[in-house]
Amino acid sequence: HRTQVAIIGAGPAGIFLAHLLHAEGINATVIERRDRDYVEGRVRAGVLEQGTVDLMRRLGIAARLEREGLVHGGTNVSLDGRMFRIDMAALTGGATVTVYGQQEVMRDLFDAAEARGLDIRWNAADVSLSDLDGVHPVVTWREGGEARRLDCDFVIGCDGYHGVSRGAIPASVLRTFERVYPFGWLGVLADVPPAEHELVYANHERGFALASMRSATRSRYYVQCGLDEDINDWSDDRFWDELCLRLGPETAAKVTRGKSFEKSIAPLRSFVAEPMRWGRLFLAGDAAHIVPPTGAKGMNLAVSDVTMLGEALTEHYRERSDAGIDGYSARALARVWKAERFSWWFTSVTHRFPTMDGFDRRIQIAELDYLRGSPAAQRSLAENYIGLPLEAA
Ligand code: FAD
Ligand code: DHB
Repeated sequence: HRTQVAIIGAGPAGIFLAHLLHAEGINATVIERRDRDYVEGRVRAGVLEQGTVDLMRRLGIAARLEREGLVHGGTNVSLDGRMFRIDMAALTGGATVTVYGQQEVMRDLFDAAEARGLDIRWNAADVSLSDLDGVHPVVTWREGGEARRLDCDFVIGCDGYHGVSRGAIPASVLRTFERVYPFGWLGVLADVPPAEHELVYANHERGFALASMRSATRSRYYVQCGLDEDINDWSDDRFWDELCLRLGPETAAKVTRGKSFEKSIAPLRSFVAEPMRWGRLFLAGDAAHIVPPTGAKGMNLAVSDVTMLGEALTEHYRERSDAGIDGYSARALARVWKAERFSWWFTSVTHRFPTMDGFDRRIQIAELDYLRGSPAAQRSLAENYIGLPLEAA
């Protein structure tokens, strides 16, 4: 079997890229370790940048998003129970974000992939990459016990943080940069109306909390927790009590409690691998970088990576120019590091760190007080939150 582009992983990075290439008439095969239900079932990101929404429109898969997505022109920040709003649209000349779950995005992408006949191989075990530094890379895997082989021009590693692609880059070439945070997020989904119309990022003496949503009838809430905590110690009652304390009395009065149907703890990490290209292997999304979730950048970064790759591969096949391919790693990393900076900054001013002393706490309070009062500071947050532009190489 032969194709032009082999894509490893059918998460947001892989499947967005498959659609982008299909639209340009470039042949691609997606090789995914799990099945569709598993990939679609993972509860993850919830906020789409303008650029992500625009890409869904361009690919002709935005019909349900336009009907069901919640467009937000602002976001709230709360400090010890006192909330203020940042009018992102006013500060950025009209830009907005859209609340639409990663699960919904995946469903729309997979439905369209089926309708358009994209080639996706599910349940691919033991995926292995070879000859990445030559001109004819090969991907092998097992499907239901049978050995498979794919010859291609390029391999795109979209297989997430735990995938095989990043490890195919020789250790002498690969550099990694990392921060592990001394806490996690405990997240809950419940079919209750959200407390506020827009999100609330709350810094409280007891720790961070986030009020988000999936729809007018479904809420997504998070509280910062210790890494060693056991999910079984968090009854719904304990979760709602802690959430309400951290959001403060005014917002807490608007919280509707209900039975949770999803509850899990995620660790927080910053991670970048450089370069994002080696020979004929290109990395995109979580395979190359992780951000802590504060700021909602993870899935959006996967989308901006593959938007750049789509342009580069189109240039290669259409215009016989490798300028885009050669510039990809530097161009992607420039944007990745800015999103890393923003996610690290927003995490560090909203969370309670175990080593914090009185000085650190007062700096946090000053930082958020400054944000409350300064249109310049608010504008900086807004332009990062709605998503930085995809600058030229
Ligand atoms: P992934 O979504 O990880 O997709 C990679 C795909 O590759 C998977 O389908 C996987 O099965 C497949 N794969 C892996 N290994 C192999 C292999 N060897 N062979 C073949 N296929 C393979 N972001 C936010 O913005 N907001 C959030 O609230 C948020 N919450 C998150 C919570 C959790 C628990 C996690 C893990 C992530 C969260 N993120 C969040 C981040 C966001 O979900 C990711 O940034 C986004 O999914 C990245 O997309 P991706 O396609 O690069 O990687
Ligand atoms: C959600 C997650 C985030 O990390 C964030 O910053 C905003 C919203 C969410 O799951 O809704």
